[in-house]
Amino acid sequence: MKQIDPCTLVLFGASGNLSRVKLMPGLFRLDALGRLPEKMAILSVGRGAVSREAWHADIKGMLDAKFKKGYDQKVFERFIARNHYHANPPTDPQAFERLKDTLSDEKTFPQNLAYFLSVRPSDFAPVVDQLASVDLLNEEKYWRRVVIEKPFGTDLPSAKALQASITRHLKESQIYRIDHYLGKSALQNILLQRFANTVLEPIWNKDYIDHVQITNTEMLGVGDRTQFYDATGALRDMIQSHVLQTLALTAMEMPKDLSPEGIRTEKIKVLEAIRPIPVNALEKHAFRAQYAAGEINGEKVPGYLEELGNADSVVETYAALKLFIDNPRWQGVPFYIRTAKRLHEADTRIAIRFKKAPMQIGSGQQQNWLIIGIQPRECIKMEIQSKIPGLDIRTRSIQLDAANRQDGDETVDAYEALLLNLMEGDNSQYLHISEVEAQWRLVDPVIEAWAKDRKPVHQYPAGSRDPEASKVIFEAEDQFWRYSIELGGDAE
Ligand code: BG6
Repeated sequence: MKQIDPCTLVLFGASGNLSRVKLMPGLFRLDALGRLPEKMAILSVGRGAVSREAWHADIKGMLDAKFKKGYDQKVFERFIARNHYHANPPTDPQAFERLKDTLSDEKTFPQNLAYFLSVRPSDFAPVVDQLASVDLLNEEKYWRRVVIEKPFGTDLPSAKALQASITRHLKESQIYRIDHYLGKSALQNILLQRFANTVLEPIWNKDYIDHVQITNTEMLGVGDRTQFYDATGALRDMIQSHVLQTLALTAMEMPKDLSPEGIRTEKIKVLEAIRPIPVNALEKHAFRAQYAAGEINGEKVPGYLEELGNADSVVETYAALKLFIDNPRWQGVPFYIRTAKRLHEADTRIAIRFKKAPMQIGSGQQQNWLIIGIQPRECIKMEIQSKIPGLDIRTRSIQLDAANRQDGDETVDAYEALLLNLMEGDNSQYLHISEVEAQWRLVDPVIEAWAKDRKPVHQYPAGSRDPEASKVIFEAEDQFWRYSIELGGDAE
C-alpha cells in the first residue's frame, strides 16, 4: 500500500451523474477499505447554494442508491464528516476568490489539492485558468493535481488547444487525463498476462497471428444522452479512447519496467505506428451503422433516429475499423476493432486468431483462437484442436478456459482505482498527451469523411448481430466476426 499524503479532493460538477454514480460511491468504498488517509477532505463544488446538511442528505441518497444491501454506519459517519460543499455560481466574478478563502481553512482542508473536473468539456480550460488566477495550482509547498474527464478535445486541433491552454499553468506531472478503461483490472491484466508468461510472448506476432479483433459492444442504447451522442458518435465516444487503449495494451512492445514512463513510452510508440486510414479507400477500412427499432431482452426498443427525433442524422452507433501497425512485430496483421450500442450482446474482449496449423487434417479443423474476456467475464481462453475419440481421424475445438476473476476476489470499480492513483500521485493509468493526440490523429480523417457523407447510414435492428455489410472490411474471405467468448461463438 502506497502512502497517501493528507489531501483535499475538490470535486467540480459534484451533483452531476458521474459524481453520483461513480465518484461519491467510489470514495466511500475506498474509505470503507481503509484506503483514504485520515486527514482527507472532500469539497464538492456546485453552481447552486446548498447547505452542508442538505449536501450530506444528498450524499446519503447517492450511497443508498448504490449500495442497496446497506453499509456500515461507522464508515458512513467518518465519510460524511469528510464532506463539505462550496457554491460557485457562474455569474459571480469573485467565485474563485471565495473558493480560495474556503480552502484556506487549513484545519479542515489539507493543502495538497486534487481537482476533479467533472464538468462540461468546454469548461475544462476556463476552470484551470481561474484556479491559476487565484494561485490554487501553485506547487511550491504542496502538490496540486487536476483530473480532466473524457473527452480531451473533440478532435486533434481542439485537443492541442486544450493542452496549450492548461499547460500555461500546469506541468505534465500535474495533469491526469482520464480514460476509465485504464482503471479496469482486466485491462491492467493484459500486460501482465502477455509478459509474465513465457508461452505467450513468442507467438504474439505476425508469424503466428492471422488477425486480431477488439470488440466492445453494448446492449444499451444512447439513453437520455441523445444530444451529446449526436455530436459525438461511436468513433469519438469509444474507439478514440477505450478501444484504442485496449489495442495499445494488446500490441505494444514490452516496457522496460512497469513505471508510468515505461508503459506510456511503449503505448505511444505503438499508437504512432498505426498506419493512417486511407480516406480514398475508406469503405474497405471503415464501416458505420445506426441501430433501428428492434428488441432487447424481449422488449421493443426504438431506433436511434427516432430517439433523436431527427431522421437526417448520419452519426454512427456502430463503428468498425481495420487497422495495420507498421512495425516489425505486426507488419501485415489486420486489427479489426468495433464498437456498437444495442447489439445482441454486451461484451468486451480481445480475440486473436492464429494462422493455419502446419498439418491440415481435413474438414472440421479450425484455426486456434486466444480470447481475453474483459467484461462481463474476465477470462483467458485458448481454443485448440483435438481428436474426436473413435475410429476416424476427425478433430474438434476444445477450450482451455481460465477465469481471471475468482470467488472472493476484490471487485474494484475503475474509478475507485483511478481516484486512489490520483491521491498517490501515480498517473501511469492516466493518458499522456501524446496518446490522446495519436488517437485523434487516427480517427479524425474518418470522422470528417463520415460527417461529409450525407447518404443514409446502414441500419441494424436493435438486438441483432453486426450488419452483414460490415464484413466488407475483412482482408480475407475466411475471416468473420467472432461472437461470444463461448466455444462455437464464431458461428454465423
Ligand atoms: C463511456 C462512453 O466512456 O463508456 C459510454 O461515453 C459507454 O457511451 C461507457 O457506455 C462504457 O463504459 P463501461 O465501463 O460501462 O464499459
